[in-house]
Amino acid sequence: MDAASPRFAWQSDSHAPNWMQQAYEIRISTDEQTVRSGKGDIWDSGRVPSSDSIDVAYRGAPLHSQTRYCWTVRVWDNKGKVEESAPAWFETGLRSPSDWSAQWIRRTDPADASELQKMRWLWLPNADAEHVAPNTVATFRYLLHLDAAPLRANLHVISRGGFVASVNGKKTGSHTEWSAFDWEEITPELHYGAGVAGDNEILVRVVSPQAHEPATTAPAAFAASIQLTDENGAERRIVSDDAWSARAGDSGAWSAAHEVGPLSAHFSVGIDRKETIGGPDRIVTDASLFRKDFIVASKVRSARLSVTALGAYEAWLNGKRIAPQTLLPPGFTDFHKRVLYQTYDVTSMLVTARNTLGFMLGGGWHGSPLTWSGTRFFAGPDLLRAQLDITFEDGHHQVIGTDNTWQTAAAPVLSSEIYGGEAYDARAATPGWDQPGFDEAAWTHAVAGGVAEDLKITASPDAPITSIITLHPQSLDLENGAHPPVFDMGQNMVGNVRLHVHGPRGSVVRLRYAERLNPDGSIYTENLRNASATDYYTLSGKGDESYTPDFTFHGFRYVEVSGYPGTLTKASIDGLVYNSLPEQPSIRFHSSSDLLNRMSELGFWGQRGNFVSIPTDCPQRDERLGWMGDAGVFWRTGTYNFDIASFSQKFTNDIVDAQEANGSFTDVSPDVLKPEEGAPGWADAGVLVPYAAWLQYGDTALLERAWPAMDRYMDFIESGNPDHLRRNQLGANYGDWLAPDPHTPRDLIATAYWAIVARDMKEMATALHRTTDAQKYGALYEKIADAYRKAYIKDDGSVEGDTQSVYVVTLASGIAPEKLRPAMTARLVKDIEAHGNHLTTGFLGTPFLMFVLDDNGRSDVAYKLLLEDTYPSWGYMVRKGATTWWERWNGDTGDPAMNSYNHYAFGSVMAWVFRRVAGIDTNTSGAGFHHMTIHPHFDPSLPQVHAEYDSAYGTVTTDWSGAAHRFIVTTPPNTTATVVLPNGKSEQVGSGTHVYSVQ
Ligand code: BGC
Repeated sequence: MDAASPRFAWQSDSHAPNWMQQAYEIRISTDEQTVRSGKGDIWDSGRVPSSDSIDVAYRGAPLHSQTRYCWTVRVWDNKGKVEESAPAWFETGLRSPSDWSAQWIRRTDPADASELQKMRWLWLPNADAEHVAPNTVATFRYLLHLDAAPLRANLHVISRGGFVASVNGKKTGSHTEWSAFDWEEITPELHYGAGVAGDNEILVRVVSPQAHEPATTAPAAFAASIQLTDENGAERRIVSDDAWSARAGDSGAWSAAHEVGPLSAHFSVGIDRKETIGGPDRIVTDASLFRKDFIVASKVRSARLSVTALGAYEAWLNGKRIAPQTLLPPGFTDFHKRVLYQTYDVTSMLVTARNTLGFMLGGGWHGSPLTWSGTRFFAGPDLLRAQLDITFEDGHHQVIGTDNTWQTAAAPVLSSEIYGGEAYDARAATPGWDQPGFDEAAWTHAVAGGVAEDLKITASPDAPITSIITLHPQSLDLENGAHPPVFDMGQNMVGNVRLHVHGPRGSVVRLRYAERLNPDGSIYTENLRNASATDYYTLSGKGDESYTPDFTFHGFRYVEVSGYPGTLTKASIDGLVYNSLPEQPSIRFHSSSDLLNRMSELGFWGQRGNFVSIPTDCPQRDERLGWMGDAGVFWRTGTYNFDIASFSQKFTNDIVDAQEANGSFTDVSPDVLKPEEGAPGWADAGVLVPYAAWLQYGDTALLERAWPAMDRYMDFIESGNPDHLRRNQLGANYGDWLAPDPHTPRDLIATAYWAIVARDMKEMATALHRTTDAQKYGALYEKIADAYRKAYIKDDGSVEGDTQSVYVVTLASGIAPEKLRPAMTARLVKDIEAHGNHLTTGFLGTPFLMFVLDDNGRSDVAYKLLLEDTYPSWGYMVRKGATTWWERWNGDTGDPAMNSYNHYAFGSVMAWVFRRVAGIDTNTSGAGFHHMTIHPHFDPSLPQVHAEYDSAYGTVTTDWSGAAHRFIVTTPPNTTATVVLPNGKSEQVGSGTHVYSVQ
């Protein structure tokens, strides 16, 4: 880690009732014996009278880089006892840029450069490619003669507009408005032999793009490359040029295609044609190997390997994979501004002899086309930087860093993209490349350099993306007339498949992924849009083979397998679930309602699927972006589901990095959309996420780091909206997104969210002892509330728009005047009842709906909504067989273009279940569960509830038995709780078990 002031936390294991810490003393030394003997030569906090045992800041002299520090804490309790912890340790990383002596390196292939240079954009002869009427069809053809079978052949196509490519009449690829080349495996489709037997027709049908009004035309063009490799490894690349033929439409005579210009040519697009777009700077997102032999001459005391990449990497030392269960390190950040690094303890892997470091570098988020438009936001090649720091027993050091003495070669990963999937040719693997003594003759020198000096390289604060859970197929629907074999994993999951296969060299197995099936049992992929989500594995033919993709992941429940040699069985694949979360949820919830129990499972799986380096909106289609609105409404639920304290730190960095120059936060973080203001509710996540993380984990360090950015953001909103109604600078202004009742006024819900974040800012300022700021935000809140009341609330308690969401946000924000609360609640309930006890709220209204009902005396209605199972409701998704939350309440019938089956946002209801059904909550006076509010609302419809939550201070348990009229609460040591019973009585309790009789 490289924090300047690390925070310390500890937990007491005392079982004594009412146990409290009265003081602590932290001691730090670089030497374990020193702290054991009761000294702290690096830092000794002295005796601090405080009951805090989380979020305790280091206040010693600056820490050194690459140093292991041991620490202990001594604790004085309220029973007169003093106890000391066993020593623990932490280690610092490469804290300053000058600690990196390794260089950035990359592999270059002259064939790639010449391919790009020779390639031409093509269009129809005698047509103006800059001005093409929408939906014009142009077909392009290349006739390829092959005398002999190629080892492999791939086709790569790009077009403005949409295209469908086919080889000898068989469709091999398609995309719509996608600005990168695709990957098409065409080897199995090609014919070869003498004469006509070896003739192949490669056909690409392009449909020109829509025009931006008021223009009536848009530029259209097409380019392609056919890459062929023969049995001896010799490559041939055929690029689009006037050797290709073209014709308008689907029939008629062919003539030579018109060369529009080089691939680097720019087209003018967009409104007024003022935007220009050029061609991509690479054809394929392939991977590279890097290796270095080095001698270790004497006994090693410690060895640390620090690695980062503009791309994604896998690492080996002496043939052994380092961190074998991890995926896509160093993670997703805005690579223009920041890249993370990881450090591995490799001491035990080194030998006193020749050693070999090996890396495979793929595109990851850096090199992959991203968003629905397939844009590569991070131009330039993928690069690797790795540094092995060895300390010997005699105290001397050796550094092995990447530089131009490293050797490099193409990897067997021919292509791997986040959305596209991976193509791996096991015949191209070179066993032994990662071990000493490998013959490097066919390898070349790496090229060093090429990264901007001001790129921040920081230690990754979050856990790596890891696979801990393995799922096995529940069923296998073997091939029939309608479709190839399809596996059902039984669970919508995110990660990769491990394929087990045995068969002839060169067989190509194709894996495709889907969340749903069509009625005929084939996989439904329409909702994946431009994500090809296809893996290809070409067999080496050497015995039993097993394969897992390296630099991609998929969101799926079903896997279609074609080209498998031999007989598929359920044992042919495993599902590796990858995410950045701990293995176990931090809450265990069980109730008398199976429906509700399933809901909590759906939430866990939804989070497992979407907390993959960043919180994605959905894990399967051509987005998987850090959509802020989704995160903001869900974060509190997310903090209960899993320990996301460090994940929150990582994402907060992403949010702050994405902040626009004008102070606005963005719609997605890292920001890979066009720089513009984020929408209300979306950009607001820049406040909502740190706020939720602070409440749940007591993390004030996070708040301190984010404070300047949050403060600037709040100023940005106010500067555009001086009358305190939020009507300007609203970005894409999504409103109450996906609400069944779309009539919530956007400015109203925007203003309510502004009030909510102002209130949050006040509370956070108070926690940070920023008195002036607390006043500033208190006053801001009042101004917003005042303007809102005047603009939207009538004397009879009706609120403009008259939707459920308007009452929800008016009440939840505290803006509703006290005397009108009953009338507003009554209107809300009336609307719910008018919809047959159904909600009509969207992304922004839903997280507050249940709180508003129970805060205003209608928990009975909240319970009705909770346990409802007809549309629209959470239970409806469960009843329809969902295994993760859907994007839309009507996911079963909704528009396929925006219909993900793994979207966590509506799962925000679970925060209410944990806080108000199980009653486990913390509050601003003791954030992080130092002080709790236990405030359950029971209902006869749910006679039993049991929850155990692992808070930062220890496990909190509540148990409700309606039959026994008994409520039992157990709170951990060093905490206090205010228990509020349904009859309104409340009491303060200390740690231990408390039993209440509730009539
Ligand atoms: C995403 C959402 C996101 C939204 C913005 C969608 O495409 O999947 O969840 O918040 O765009 O409205």
